[in-house]
Amino acid sequence: MTGPQSSTLQAIKYSRAGLSLSAGSLQVLDQLRLPFETVYENVANCKDGHHVVRSMKVRGAPAIAIVAALSLAVELHFVLTSTPAVFPTALSVQDFVDHKLNYLRTSRPTAVNLFEAAARLEKVVVAAASAMNATSASTANAYISAAETMLEKDVEDNRSIGRHGAQAIIEAAAAAGADNTVQVLTHCNTGSLATAGWGTALGIIRELHVTGKLEHAYCTETRPYNQGSRLTAYELVHEQIPATLICDSMASALMNTRKIAAVIVGADRVAANGDTANKIGTYQLAIAARYHGVPFIVAAPSTSIDLNTATGADIVIEERAAVEVVRVSGRKVPASDEAAEATSAPATETVHVAAPGINVWNPAFDVTPSHLITCVVTEHGVALPSTSSGAGSQPSIDMKA
Ligand code: MRU
Repeated sequence: MTGPQSSTLQAIKYSRAGLSLSAGSLQVLDQLRLPFETVYENVANCKDGHHVVRSMKVRGAPAIAIVAALSLAVELHFVLTSTPAVFPTALSVQDFVDHKLNYLRTSRPTAVNLFEAAARLEKVVVAAASAMNATSASTANAYISAAETMLEKDVEDNRSIGRHGAQAIIEAAAAAGADNTVQVLTHCNTGSLATAGWGTALGIIRELHVTGKLEHAYCTETRPYNQGSRLTAYELVHEQIPATLICDSMASALMNTRKIAAVIVGADRVAANGDTANKIGTYQLAIAARYHGVPFIVAAPSTSIDLNTATGADIVIEERAAVEVVRVSGRKVPASDEAAEATSAPATETVHVAAPGINVWNPAFDVTPSHLITCVVTEHGVALPSTSSGAGSQPSIDMKA
């Protein structure tokens, strides 16, 4: 197996194809069934990859990109080794990869990581196909090995993001005369379940925890899909990180009444000017953080930074189906403790909660303007968004280039 091996928190399970003809295999943890059921779904090709991403069985910007890329790796290996041979030349592999990546690009529009990965992988294949003595096998294998590298690199990058972010928060808290430990607030799920492992914003919280610097983490419920209450809370409980769940509507009250050292969120796309698309509700957290003088930190791999998108106004915001707002999924509450004990298979059920007939607007993401963002933490360090300097009441945090 490749990738982190923590039992239940492994969103992506991948094993490499053997040197012989044995195929690689890809499985994803069905996050629609968390936190009550741990069920892995097999992803055998790009059609499966598109489906698990589109349906949000796997979600989170880095995980989306990795699963899409690996779904093509598995399919490519299968086609390459089938008989009769399907790929007569290296260029036929290149055409196949282009076609499949274009299809995968249509799964979800907002997170840039999938688009960045697709463009990078296309370049790898073009270079391999035009190399001297290129064959269909050498070209396909160049793609497969570049896709596999993404899995390991993502975990390494997240560990670096965790270290840089935790250090910046601790230094800022110390400069503000705060205690040795901090309380932080996060939104959505940016942890092991949203990445190849460890996480971005949640990786910073993990780093604070393992270094003894975390007093308490708060996580928002993150309606409508409840990534916070279902997924982040699950990760926090699993790792015994001291944490409390709040409804999205409680964030301002939290900042007003408890000492919050930082709000830490992930990103789906950071535009060239620092405007950041992230899970719906991020923008209102940034406004509340600014009002309360709390540093607002975006944590993301550098692959989430999209220099081809000038500002947040150019980011396509995915709008999802109304059912995600009017219905909720969860485990049926048993009638009694005895009934709970008798229940061996806690199935996830969906119930309707809104008034039937009501209109619904369901944007999955919003854009936080760069002037509300204190800093962006990547694997390379901590940086200010380009347009945020001189933004008046910017909360201070120690910046490193
Ligand atoms: O709709 P989702 O669950 O894919 O949205 C996830 C987020 O917005 C995350 O904050 C972002 O992708 C970063 S995950 C490390």
